[in-house]
Amino acid sequence: MEVVPLGSASEIAVLAADVIEAVVRRKRAAVLGLATGSTPLPVYQELIRRHNAAAGPAYDGVTCFNLDEYVGLPAGHEQSYRATIARELTDGLGISPAQVNGPDPSPAELPTAGERYEALIKAAGGVDVQLLGIGSDGHLAFNEPGSSLASRTRIKTLTAQTRKDNARFFDSPDEVPTHVLTQGLGTVLEARHLLLIATGDGKAAAAAAAVEGPVSASCPASVLQLHPHVTVLLDQAAASRLDRLDYYTEVYAAKPTWQGL
Ligand code: F6R
Repeated sequence: MEVVPLGSASEIAVLAADVIEAVVRRKRAAVLGLATGSTPLPVYQELIRRHNAAAGPAYDGVTCFNLDEYVGLPAGHEQSYRATIARELTDGLGISPAQVNGPDPSPAELPTAGERYEALIKAAGGVDVQLLGIGSDGHLAFNEPGSSLASRTRIKTLTAQTRKDNARFFDSPDEVPTHVLTQGLGTVLEARHLLLIATGDGKAAAAAAAVEGPVSASCPASVLQLHPHVTVLLDQAAASRLDRLDYYTEVYAAKPTWQGL
């Protein structure tokens, strides 16, 4: 795991956009794994800014897979993750909606939604780079504490903490769905490169537990320690509770430029 302490959310956005663009430049038919929430927004804005300035790669061959989706919202709801990803990223990059996949929360299809989504990811050849945020309770995708470290895409119940954290996107806290379809931790671990980003002191404890704590279902994001290629980009506040912060800073400062992330 490579931990990169950075000065600000905008520095994270530049570096994360560099990583995503490098994958698409190297592989025109790249498969991108996308997260929603507030943390990735500066990254998405940076990618769209470069695309509009004709400085980005061609996205016409790219396929995307969303990490998760709310269950119980009307189809097309503006806070559905399918609508959010289109609005915040893929429409801006000119990626056709047909190339953007998400778990299918339609009520009649729920029992098979997980296995169908897994099959779609597999048929696309797997995810090349997966962008990830982290919940203040340590959740990864929507695998809440206690989730199996080997879990696959399935329905999960959000914790009260996560519903409270996400209430800002809705008119009232009661409107936050209780259930989601989420890639499992075992599913996430199959992506070739995992890029976790976290900003703000509300993420400091979860980031420290994920990076330096024991690998445990009590902190689902700690499962990242089992993956061979993980990059963790943190701003100063999110990095503030890391015991080995000085070491990570020293390692990144001395990193040979040819090595990349
Ligand atoms: C979103 C997702 C979640 C978020 C996490 C952090 O697709 O899977 O794990 O990454 O809840 O959300 P923000 O970035 O809003 O703090």
